[in-house]
Amino acid sequence: MKKIGIFNGPNLDRLGIREPEIYGKETLDDLRHRVEKLADELGVEIEFFQSNFEGVLIEKMAEWADLGFDALIGNPAGLTHTSVSLLDAIKASGLPYVEVHISNVFHRGELRQKSITAEAATGVITGLGFAGYDAALRFLAE
Ligand code: DQA
Repeated sequence: MKKIGIFNGPNLDRLGIREPEIYGKETLDDLRHRVEKLADELGVEIEFFQSNFEGVLIEKMAEWADLGFDALIGNPAGLTHTSVSLLDAIKASGLPYVEVHISNVFHRGELRQKSITAEAATGVITGLGFAGYDAALRFLAE
């Protein structure tokens, strides 16, 4: 069975409360249940993870690589636009990576136009809400 690590970066624990006009009213737990249900249907194993700390996310990439995970899905949140270290950790994992953004980052301010972490990605899904995670999971489950 394929094992896929799904990570979520800073402030995504505040989904449902945080800027609902941009990110919607559903919570991180709603997202977790949604992807767990789809993973069951697709016959893949997932670990769903969120942290507000860059170093914790970096260590998670190495842990998943060492545990023999097959792929990564990530929403690095604000770290998308700032973190060379997270990019390096994703690359160092050697795992295929699909990046997901709930909002369409290209509709937003200039600072969100650049994704540092996308350099490691096979593909980037942005603006499809939680459905972006479904699409990434379906792609990597194949
Ligand atoms: C986000 C977009 C980022 O620019 C932002 O910093 C986030 C969430 C998204 O899912 O739309 O925290 O990654």
